[in-house]
Amino acid sequence: MVRIQEQKLKRQIRRYLSDSFKSLVLENGSGENWLLTLDRHPETQAAVIVARHGERTVVHPREQLEDVLARLSRDGFFKHNYMIGKGTRVKVDARYGKAKVQQLEETAWKKVSGGREDIIRPDNAGNVLKAIGIMKENGSISAREHKKYKQINDFLRVCKPVLDKIINRPRKTADFVLEVSDLACGNSYLAFVLAWYLQSLKLKHRVHGIDSRQDVIDRSIRRAGELSYSQMSFEVASLRESTDRDCHLAVSLHGCDKATDEAIIKAVVAGAEALMIVPCCQNEVFLQLEKASAFPELCKQSLYRRAYATVLTDSLRALALEALGYKVKVLEFTAALHTSKSLMIRAEKARGPQPQLKREFQQSCQKHGVKPAIMAIFDAADGV
Ligand SMILES: C[S@@+](CC[C@H](N)C(=O)[O-])C[C@H]1O[C@@H](n2cnc3c(N)ncnc32)[C@H](O)[C@@H]1O
Repeated sequence: MVRIQEQKLKRQIRRYLSDSFKSLVLENGSGENWLLTLDRHPETQAAVIVARHGERTVVHPREQLEDVLARLSRDGFFKHNYMIGKGTRVKVDARYGKAKVQQLEETAWKKVSGGREDIIRPDNAGNVLKAIGIMKENGSISAREHKKYKQINDFLRVCKPVLDKIINRPRKTADFVLEVSDLACGNSYLAFVLAWYLQSLKLKHRVHGIDSRQDVIDRSIRRAGELSYSQMSFEVASLRESTDRDCHLAVSLHGCDKATDEAIIKAVVAGAEALMIVPCCQNEVFLQLEKASAFPELCKQSLYRRAYATVLTDSLRALALEALGYKVKVLEFTAALHTSKSLMIRAEKARGPQPQLKREFQQSCQKHGVKPAIMAIFDAADGV
C-alpha cells in the first residue's frame, strides 16, 4: 500500500480532468501501467471510464474518477500522466499531489497517450463506414452502431501486430498475396475493415467472407461493389462445406456455437498462420453437461453450468490449437461494455504438432465427460 496525498490528488483531478480528456496513463515503478479512456455506455449513454491493465478491462462510472485514481495510486500506480488534449500532458505524483504541465509535440503526445486512437474513423474511412452501415449519410454514428464501431476498431487494433508479423515474414515467392478469411462473416464488418486496412498499406491481398446465410452474403457483395473492392469475395456455405482455399489469417467474430469450431478447423486445415477467434455461445457442451457431468457440484445452478461450459469449451479449443503447434493467448479484445462476448482466442503458428498436448486434451475431455466439436480437428488436420 502506497501512502498518497489524497486531498491534493483529488484537487488536481478536479482542476485538470473535470472536462473531457484523451487518456490517462497510471504507472507504477516497475513499468506496468493502467490506461484509462472515456467512453459512453451503449444503452444508457452515460459517461464511463474504461480502465485497461494487461488483459484486464474494468469499466467505472465517470463520476467515480477521483476514487478510482486514488485507489489505483494506493495500489502502487502513483505516477499519473493526464493527456488532456492539444498536446498537453499533466504529470502528477500521487504521493505528493504535485502537478507539472507539459506541452508535447504531436508524435510524442500520441505515443504517450497510449496510441488508442480509433484506426478506422469517419475522417479516414467515411465511405467504408457508410457502406457497411455503421455511419449514417449525415456522418453520425448512432448509439446502436457505436458498439459495432468500437468492436471493429478494437479488433483491428489487436489484429495489427499479428498482421505485421505475417506481412514481414520472409516468403519464397516475391509476388506475395495476403489471404484473409472472415469465417461466419455475417454482414462482413471485419472483412471490410481488414480490406480497407490492407488497401491502406498498399499490400496485395484478398479477403474472403463465408456465411451460411444468403441475405448477408448478398448484402456484402453489394457493398463491396459500391466500394469497388474487387479484392473481396464471398461465399454462401456452411463453413464445413465451403471451398478450400489458402488462408494466412483467419478471423471469426461471434460464430454461433459450433460454427466457431468449424471456423477453427477450416482455418487450421487451410494452413492459417494466425487465427483470431471470438467465440459466441457454447451450447453444445452446456447441453452435454446438462445430461451428465463429472463435476455435478458445478452444474447444479444453470448459470454456473453455463459459465463452466463456456470456460471448458474455450479452454479445450485453445488446448487443441496448442496441440497443433499454435502459440495461444486468450485476451479481452474489447471492453465488455461493447459486447458481452469479448474474449478472443489468438493463435499464431509457432511449431509442429505436440503429441503430449494432444494427450492432455483427450484426458481433459475424459475428465470432464464431454465430446466437444473441436475434437474433430485432430482428424481434419491429420497430415496438415
Ligand atoms: C452472430 S452472427 C456474427 C456475424 C459477424 N461475424 C459479426 O460479428 O457481425 C453469426 C453468423 O454465423 C453464421 N453461421 C452460423 N453457423 C454457421 C456455419 N456453420 N457456417 C457458416 N456460417 C454460419 C450465421 O449465419 C451468422 O451470420
